[in-house]
Amino acid sequence: MKLNIAVLPGDGVGPEVTREAVRVLRAVSDFCGYDFRFEEYPIGGQASLDLGSPFPAQTRERCLAASAVLLGAVGGPQFDSLSAERRPEAGLLALRQALGCFANLRPAIAFESISGCSPLRPERILGANILIVRELLGGLYFAEPRAFDVASKSAWNTMRYSEQEIERVARVAFKLAQGRGKKLVSVDKANVLETSRLWRQVVTRIAAEFTDVALEHALVDSFAMNVITYPTRYDVVLTENLFGDILSDETAVIAGSLGMLPSASIGGKVDLYEPIHGSAPDIAGKGIANPIGAIASAAMLLRHTAKLNNEADCIEAAIDQVLKSGMRTADLLPPAERARAASTAEIGQRIAEATVDALNSRMAYFAV
Ligand code: IPM
Ligand code: MN
Repeated sequence: MKLNIAVLPGDGVGPEVTREAVRVLRAVSDFCGYDFRFEEYPIGGQASLDLGSPFPAQTRERCLAASAVLLGAVGGPQFDSLSAERRPEAGLLALRQALGCFANLRPAIAFESISGCSPLRPERILGANILIVRELLGGLYFAEPRAFDVASKSAWNTMRYSEQEIERVARVAFKLAQGRGKKLVSVDKANVLETSRLWRQVVTRIAAEFTDVALEHALVDSFAMNVITYPTRYDVVLTENLFGDILSDETAVIAGSLGMLPSASIGGKVDLYEPIHGSAPDIAGKGIANPIGAIASAAMLLRHTAKLNNEADCIEAAIDQVLKSGMRTADLLPPAERARAASTAEIGQRIAEATVDALNSRMAYFAV
């Protein structure tokens, strides 16, 4: 198995957390005798300052030639004065668009081992396992016209969706629901927005292709309340770009910390994997960021791009095991206990070791 992975560490804590994800992938590659190669390229705010673009042409070219892209994070207050097209976030959006990955998978699982980390009552969240499928290349993020018009003292963005954009992401979500709890809730604002009325119509039509999946429609405002009140009711959540951005940070509360959540962006020429957290400038460079979102993104890479399900399962089992052992980064500890927090590298190292242990015991199991 040969994989040529483009690693884009980016800004803030991005380099720290991607280093740990690469460490775990290397451990898998070495143990299994695979040929995983890693090459780093610049993206985001630092790339913008150093090279004049948050998504340099060479980064684009190398990502398009890679088996998959693994990204850390982009952004930071030091880049706030850059012009719109040179902002770090513009680099990430240009990357998503260049790769063509229109379906963004954001799982949020309430691990029992850290259920006390969530401000939500454990009995409410235990068993919660939600997969948000966020449309990633349309809506307010990309549609024209858009402007910040100083002359008229106004600004505008456009919400636009075509049937085809909705169909393709809906099919991804329904297929995923078939392989899980067979429930799908499509979230929109159909009582107000034309784009949402089209969304609802198209999703209802696509549902006819997937008769084993129970479809429900929900309005985004009440869904935002229900998902946090009754998280175990939901399975797959399909929604448009901006709603998905907001709702996925909300579901991080169910998981216990934003630092836990991975994502996969699929459906285009090359798949993109990144933790959903941002660059966390307040803790950057301190070696205390939670690398689990990045490591779990690496597991998704093995599952979705490389079809290495067994190896992906082993990484996820290793994450669970390390959390069960009580080892955790500061974001998963109450302030009074933060003195015992493990560093980013310590957690990464432990997960890499536990992954190898898991691979070892599975091999022993299959050899019997
Ligand atoms: C995310 C982030 C990005 C987004 C930003 C950094 C452009 O918030 O991946 O959720 O809004 O998509
Ligand atoms: Mn976001």
